[in-house]
Amino acid sequence: MTQPMMTFNDGNRMPQLGAGVFQIANDDTAGVVDAALRTGYRLIDGAAAYNNERGMGEGIRNSGVPRDEIFVTSKLWNDAHGHDAALRAFDQTMERTGLDYLDLYLIHWPLPKLDKYVETWKVLIRLRDEGRIRSIGVANFHEPHLKRIIDETGVTPALNQIEIHPSLNQPEMRAVNKRFGIVTQSWTPLGRGDSFEAAPVKAAADRTGRSVAQVILRWHIQHGLSVIPKSEQEKRLAENFDVLGFELTADEMAAIDKLENDHRTGPHPDEFDYREPL
Ligand SMILES: NC(=O)c1ccc[n+]([C@@H]2O[C@H](COP(=O)([O-])OP(=O)(O)OC[C@H]3O[C@@H](n4cnc5c(N)ncnc54)[C@H](OP(=O)(O)O)[C@@H]3O)[C@@H](O)[C@H]2O)c1
Repeated sequence: MTQPMMTFNDGNRMPQLGAGVFQIANDDTAGVVDAALRTGYRLIDGAAAYNNERGMGEGIRNSGVPRDEIFVTSKLWNDAHGHDAALRAFDQTMERTGLDYLDLYLIHWPLPKLDKYVETWKVLIRLRDEGRIRSIGVANFHEPHLKRIIDETGVTPALNQIEIHPSLNQPEMRAVNKRFGIVTQSWTPLGRGDSFEAAPVKAAADRTGRSVAQVILRWHIQHGLSVIPKSEQEKRLAENFDVLGFELTADEMAAIDKLENDHRTGPHPDEFDYREPL
């Protein structure tokens, strides 16, 4: 099956559906990434903070899938904001992954109290201009953070990765990203299972003969969101990838939208100020 692709404001393209590798031990990551690529995933979402970039690089190499067919993301952690630290962090990511270039590099959190995200963004622009990264973006940025980096550099992020799932569906931030021409990508798309028992999700699962996780991932896809579920189980990797061959009705989508209850599983981007390694 052809995978749906998303086109960035810089002209580059990314598969809509990918595999995240948060909370996978480094020693297990190569096997999970290899399994994901064998399943058909072509987008792998990693980060320096996940402490498994070596495993991610190894899995990519072991899979035998040509590098130019795989879209690889990594992220700059909170201890690496600022000009020199950001350059060093990027070099360390490249050393650990063993890759020649990244498809996408994100600032993981804005840390507004530290107030160095504009300086850090300028480093990402430079690395992109040098050809070491194909596209640059951010995660957990709110409108004022986006506006500032765009106003001060003239460069709009390709993508903003934010927490989205049925109980935090973020219509405002999705609209902000859209207005700026930024692709929205959902992190923790399954919401740590908090909507698995919800009646509209179960009803859609019953009607379609799909699992509740598949219904939720399909809800993201039909909202035009990129989605990066994490699983270290081969069976679930396959289940989460098999969400392109069925459709939710408009009523089912609307009923799942109504599960919104402002339930954040992660920190609030305006407040989060943690600068130690994870
Ligand atoms: N930018 C950020 O700040 C940020 C923050 C968090 C996450 N992320 C990214 O987003 C990715 C996904 O987020 P996440 O890992 O927090 O949460 P998630 O993908 O929503 O959920 C992962 C959890 O759900 C389980 N699971 C996966 N597939 C399932 C299925 N089909 N049925 C039942 N349970 C299932 C997994 O367990 P098993 O592994 O045992 O299957 C794991 O416990 C991360 O890996 C990371 O790449 C980014």
